[in-house]
Amino acid sequence: MISETAPAKLNLALHVRSRRVDGYHELETLFAFVRDGDRLTVERADTWSLRITGPFAHGLSAGVDNLVLRAAAAFVARFGGTMKFAVTLAKRLPVASGIGGGSADAAAMLRALARFDDVMLDDPALFSIAAELGADVPACLAGVTAIGGGRGERLQPVAGLPQTPVLLVNPGVTVSTPAVFARWDGVDRGALPDGDAQQIAMEGRNDLQAPALTLAPIIADVLALLEPDATLARMSGSGATCFALYDDIAARDTAATRIATARPGWWTSATTLA
Ligand code: C5P
Repeated sequence: MISETAPAKLNLALHVRSRRVDGYHELETLFAFVRDGDRLTVERADTWSLRITGPFAHGLSAGVDNLVLRAAAAFVARFGGTMKFAVTLAKRLPVASGIGGGSADAAAMLRALARFDDVMLDDPALFSIAAELGADVPACLAGVTAIGGGRGERLQPVAGLPQTPVLLVNPGVTVSTPAVFARWDGVDRGALPDGDAQQIAMEGRNDLQAPALTLAPIIADVLALLEPDATLARMSGSGATCFALYDDIAARDTAATRIATARPGWWTSATTLA
């Protein structure tokens, strides 16, 4: 049996540069990962199966269209193999929320199957499968702080900000990624700033924040609640989850308590950057 964590992905900065003819957008983004996420357990079995548990299991299909099973099918198509697996996904991250849950789950599936089959985790074929599954899947497969170019799949690892206290907050609304991208105004606001991860995060932007706000105005409330005591508060991906970075654990936990009291229905996760 192999267990893999599928950590939440953050876009510490996300600059949209242009619309592409293939319907995607040319990005420059700083990916980072936190310590916590979904959990995937994969064990040998007589037939393939997927069981989804956990607080965000409801409403998720466990059928062949699930990205985890699509990842498995793509792996078998590329690497062969006759083994079959019973897969359990503990869904702890809110879905369609900008922190890459589905992409992280697919990447965790690829890592688990690679371990079973002795495929190297840096095998380029594994990364091309990942890129076909989704723009964020290669970043989730690598799982390290990296600058992403192209659709997000061209990765350049950079030194991260390990142990930085982070609070994730989701106001309980799902946001459609294509719908947010479609509302981007087409204005190129410039490249990622130069410098280390800290500088890029502090001086960067999320160009999807404004279009996401038009679909989910509640994101403004999340940011207003996070901003007072954070070193940085910003939306991740296409939203609606926002993250805040803190100088110390105490400041993060004070903010977590304050927000849980003010908005008891919202999802929060107090964690650290990996
Ligand atoms: O690749 P993935 O399926 O995760 O992307 C979901 C949607 O997000 C795409 O269909 C596209 O509308 C949008 N997208 C984009 N440009 C990117 C990444 C995603 O337009 N670089």
